[in-house]
Amino acid sequence: MPTIESILNESRLFPPTTDFAQQGNISGSAAYQQLCTQAEKNHQEFWAEQAKKYILWHKPFTQTLDDSNQPFFQWFSDGELNVSFNCLDRHLATQPDKTAIIFESDEGETIRSTYRDLHQRVCKLANALKALGIDKGDCVIIYMPMRIEAVVAMQACARIGAIHSVVFGGFSSKSLHERITNAGAKAIITADEQVRGGKRHALKATVDEAISMGGTESVKKVIVYQRSGSDVPFDPARDVWWHDITQNASNDCEPEWVNAEHPLFTLYTSGSTGKPKGVQHSSAGYLLGTMVSMQWVFDYKPSDIFWCTADVGWITGHSYVAYGPLAMGATQIIFEGVPTYPHAGRFWEIVDKHQVTTFYTAPTAIRSLVKLGADLPEKYNLSSLRLLGSVGEPINPEAWMWYYEKVGRSRCPIVDTWWQTETGSHMIAPLPGVVSLKPGSCTRPLPGIAAAIVDENGQDIEPGEGGFLVIKKPFPSQVRTLWNDPERFKKTYFPQEIANGQYYLAGDSAYCDKDGYFWIMGRIDDVLNVSGHRLGTMEIESALVANPLVAEAAVVGKPHDVKGEAVVAFVVLKGDFPQEDSKAGIVSQLREWVAQEIGPIAKPDEIRFGENLPKTRSGKIMRRLLRALAQGEAITQDISTLENPAILDQLRQAN
Ligand code: PRX
Repeated sequence: MPTIESILNESRLFPPTTDFAQQGNISGSAAYQQLCTQAEKNHQEFWAEQAKKYILWHKPFTQTLDDSNQPFFQWFSDGELNVSFNCLDRHLATQPDKTAIIFESDEGETIRSTYRDLHQRVCKLANALKALGIDKGDCVIIYMPMRIEAVVAMQACARIGAIHSVVFGGFSSKSLHERITNAGAKAIITADEQVRGGKRHALKATVDEAISMGGTESVKKVIVYQRSGSDVPFDPARDVWWHDITQNASNDCEPEWVNAEHPLFTLYTSGSTGKPKGVQHSSAGYLLGTMVSMQWVFDYKPSDIFWCTADVGWITGHSYVAYGPLAMGATQIIFEGVPTYPHAGRFWEIVDKHQVTTFYTAPTAIRSLVKLGADLPEKYNLSSLRLLGSVGEPINPEAWMWYYEKVGRSRCPIVDTWWQTETGSHMIAPLPGVVSLKPGSCTRPLPGIAAAIVDENGQDIEPGEGGFLVIKKPFPSQVRTLWNDPERFKKTYFPQEIANGQYYLAGDSAYCDKDGYFWIMGRIDDVLNVSGHRLGTMEIESALVANPLVAEAAVVGKPHDVKGEAVVAFVVLKGDFPQEDSKAGIVSQLREWVAQEIGPIAKPDEIRFGENLPKTRSGKIMRRLLRALAQGEAITQDISTLENPAILDQLRQAN
């Protein structure tokens, strides 16, 4: 492993405010220490206790952890529950009229849904799905705009034991097709169009295109929610309108009781090689992770107005929109639009309008809002806010300070939460009533999460030194397997080289400082983090190579002040080296191509052409050289193994 050096040197410390120290759900270091010690002393008993405290069981579990088939761990595996029952029915007796969702549309319209109303909507759709022949264990793709209906669709699947797989509405028909076929989806729930930032994007037409690509015979039904009312293609043999099938469906739907390990959903995410991975989560363990983190990290209070800005197409929108807040009985905001439409103060306007108390977003959004209007938050009344959160990538200290001072008015702690699609819920994050904050650090592992930094053999390493971030003990909300690919699951997350496959390998490099604070440094694999979204370099490379003009392509990341990382592609064309006057045309053609193949988020920011790529004599592309070139750095590395050194000059000049 090359030495990983840290460049951050942050010494500011923000202790918990008096308010949090007194009123935090976990307040004071004694309470925190007690939890940590309890977890360390008896890991299983600790989690069993949480599972009994938070989850409503239809049939209680007697076995906490089954580790007989490592690394395919099972938690609470003889217990039975229903996740939708835990998110909705449990509140019907105590707070049926509490607002569950405050929906803010792209145009600024507000729709409120109470727990009673949400329960009815979910039951109606669940009954309708059953009537269409969707059963327990069937896979349903959800390709929806950010509206109440997206959550209703997820919850309805959970209610009948169907396994949902949400595909982000920004993904192309090709990406959608890949997910439909890998999942073997029986139904697709979509909308005519989505409306974001004043623009309409076709969803139903994209679904049709994906289905027409072949190998999609598993899809029997397409359920279409009418969002915009535009004319869309409709196949009466296969397609049904959401409003038609739910109209006369009953308001009640007995939940399907499932085993704790029954898959709640799969969610596709990028890896370093090949195709996206279908991360498979369980029902009980996953739900538990979202609930304890709501309680510990977001310090959830019944009076909160909670707002996680993530789309349900990502794990953050699963855990902290569709499941965690509802299971806790919270009132939450769901926003259909974008932070900058119709003006750059939209986020702050919504906080002000709905008196948001807890606001959770990504550093990339924060950086773009700083750029568009650093003083804009001052124009709004943000006094309702009490807690801020950050997720998706390391937050740079300048952005942290702006968020803290301008948005939180130096009153609100910022919980910087490190976790992944695969971990299901927060792993390393501060408990705001206990842990002092350091800008840029996600602070300390949660109680019951055995995170550590190790070297390439799995040995613990000294504070201050960079290494691999691992989690040494199994935890309830972890990924169970990769859909249809248990071998890849084992190899990727529990590699033999590291402690004989005993540890969960996160794929991040990090270091711990002398106070035990974790600092995330970046990925150790070929995965880019663009605007908080994971993109595999290989995925973009394969998309480029699929273009008839392209012979070879290599993709690397380079730092970007808003997006975190920008995508830089080095491309060898099939024909002659492009003339100066044709370059711009080819660049825009290839960018559009990648948008079509994967989705606009994967568009290369920069494309450089070469007659070849820098390769070793054995034909391996030397990516570290490409990274240096992309960043405009002088090449100081050893290039003696390089087959064609002259190519470096060409690629350096090629932009
Ligand atoms: O590299 C880490 C980064 O995002 C990766 C996980 O991406 P994804 O599965 O898409 O989930 C994102 C939302 C949970 C991690 O491997 N990451 C996530 N949160 C942080 C982070 N890096 C630094 N600090 C964070 N708070």
